Amino acid sequence: MSVRTLGIETSCDETAVAVIEADEQGCRLLGEALATRPEEHAALGGIVPELTVRQHLELLPRLTAEAKNKSGNVKVDGVGATAGPGLAPALLVGLSYGKALAWAQKKSFHAINHLEGHLFTPFVAKGGWPKYPHVALIVSGGHTLLVEATGPRARRILGTTRDDAAGEAFDKLARMVGLGYPGGAALEMEAQGADQGCFSLPRPMKGTPGCDFSFSGLKNAARLLLEKDPALASPGRARESFCAEVQAAISDSLVDRSAQALKETGIKTFTVSGGVSANQGVLQALQKMAEERGIEFISTMGGWNTDNASMIAAVTARRVLDGQASDWDVDADPRWSVAV
Ligand code: KG4
Ligand code: ZN
Repeated sequence: MSVRTLGIETSCDETAVAVIEADEQGCRLLGEALATRPEEHAALGGIVPELTVRQHLELLPRLTAEAKNKSGNVKVDGVGATAGPGLAPALLVGLSYGKALAWAQKKSFHAINHLEGHLFTPFVAKGGWPKYPHVALIVSGGHTLLVEATGPRARRILGTTRDDAAGEAFDKLARMVGLGYPGGAALEMEAQGADQGCFSLPRPMKGTPGCDFSFSGLKNAARLLLEKDPALASPGRARESFCAEVQAAISDSLVDRSAQALKETGIKTFTVSGGVSANQGVLQALQKMAEERGIEFISTMGGWNTDNASMIAAVTARRVLDGQASDWDVDADPRWSVAV
């Protein structure tokens, strides 16, 4: 049996809609439409809830039409929307819109956990379904998590950040050196081909027991370096080397914590997803660590890394195939945990 689903993602500043087709073998993206207006948020220094909600309201009808159009206007069997975790008013826009779409078409509605979407991406981006057990690293602007998934409804959090998320650390450090917001990708560009070893930043939590993360010490150490050398905030070789060191420090920390999670669980499959996994330095370091330990490493690619609606449509499709649906009165849960 094959099914088609429509997924909606509005947990933060991205508005996205996707239509996919799926069967027991895996899924195939039929159409996706996505919009974000980072420049409007950048002008205000970060995500502004009121502005985000207005953008979602404005964009959803157009993006839904566009995604459906790209899919050849197929009839869908179910509609899913991110219900958490995320920004409460932003979640409510997508959730209400999704319910209305499903109700009008007399199809099932599915409240989807954004993080479960991220857990799905390394597998569904390659056309399959998640396989168990696996250890997943989710690294984005809002989350830094190590999750043990032993089955579709059996997940345990192994480690999380005690302060900033990895993407947030990239963004804050990028902003410190004048690379704008969100600056993770710009920092990576800056770090490419830079001289190594000119600066020395701490590797947060490296070698400590457990699998937790922390990035605030790194931020403070970077701030001290900048105070000593304000030229680091201007274009040039020094800033490039500084960015390379920031990337290496975050990357080393992610590798160390992930290695610890794999050792603790003894699991032989390791996945990574989320915006920061678009970073080639991070990706290669994680891959090397996994290979050295004989562990299968599965990453995502392209638009699957960053927030997207395809992952929400994919989890929805799994639910439809399994004959499950949410109640119509399901609410948004801004703090919805990925653990079950
Ligand atoms: O998964 P995502 O799109 O949204 C959230 O759920 O947060 O992740 C966005 C985050 C931002 O912090 C962004 O700076 C970071 O991912 N990011 C990167 C790169 N591309 C995106 N960080 C480092 N290097 C990159 N190439
Ligand atoms: Zn995300």
